[in-house]
Amino acid sequence: MTWTTILYHPTVADRFAAALKEAGHTDPVVIARNREELIELLPQAQVAFTWGIPPGVLAEHGQHLLWLQNMGAGIDSLLAEPLPPNLIITRVIDHFGPMMSEYVMAMLLAHTQRFRQAWQQQQDQVWKQYRTGTWEGKRLGIAGIGEIGQVTARYAKAFGMEVWGLARTPGARPHIDRVFTTDERLAFCAGLDALVLILPLTPETRGLFGAAEFAALPRGAYFINVGRGAVTDEQALIAALQSGHLSGAALDVFEQEPLPPGHPFWTMPNVTVTPHVSGITRPEGACRQFRENYKRLQAGKPLLGVVDLDRGY
Ligand code: OXD
Repeated sequence: MTWTTILYHPTVADRFAAALKEAGHTDPVVIARNREELIELLPQAQVAFTWGIPPGVLAEHGQHLLWLQNMGAGIDSLLAEPLPPNLIITRVIDHFGPMMSEYVMAMLLAHTQRFRQAWQQQQDQVWKQYRTGTWEGKRLGIAGIGEIGQVTARYAKAFGMEVWGLARTPGARPHIDRVFTTDERLAFCAGLDALVLILPLTPETRGLFGAAEFAALPRGAYFINVGRGAVTDEQALIAALQSGHLSGAALDVFEQEPLPPGHPFWTMPNVTVTPHVSGITRPEGACRQFRENYKRLQAGKPLLGVVDLDRGY
């Protein structure tokens, strides 16, 4: 059995199309680069391989689709829209762990090594020694201990850190010393030197980290968010950073993206802002998973990375 695939990406559709060819996909593919092309070509396709589908298009024009492979890990924007019934949605699961965990470790190390100060002093040609810190023996909390969080935990352990994890469900996970459930998050926060959020955005996680959670973190804790901005209450985060309760933050994701000009995060001296780059999908990786899932669909086998619509990821 073969199907026609519609490939849609608003900016780099051709890169994904080339990678799909390279991955050995020879069945028909139609490429859409904008909303109009998407609407025109959708009726020809049974399979969709997409990122950033404009609101409303799937519900109106994608009723006949069998399966949609999302090009990224997060599917919050897809799930914010009505979806065709019975559509199987899969998300990329296999290649974000190392990239995002390196981002987390880089930000942790930049903080204790005071790279911001070093770069400023170099720019000013100032030779002035300062004390650096270490993460050895400190405790990292990871909220979201799926495939990505477990890689982050493994890397943190290599730096001598103790690792606590926060999850919806209890139970041991590889490389995590202690697991807390979402309901126990204040106790979780209270024991940490640094907290990293790697959570999907779902109705349960929206605004999960607010004033109470930031207050529960010990004074001087460091904060990183690589999941979704709306999992935090940004006003509460700004207050915790401005008061000095948190020593700093590295933020890759925001409630509003692009982060608007003039937003306080841009100029806060203890905040590092990056433009949602910690886990950019590599076309080769996404195409590898698409190919594997396409073959599984042909063979009637379960697909990889199937989204549980009730759970929201
Ligand atoms: C993703 C992302 O979800 O890039 O893949 O944020």
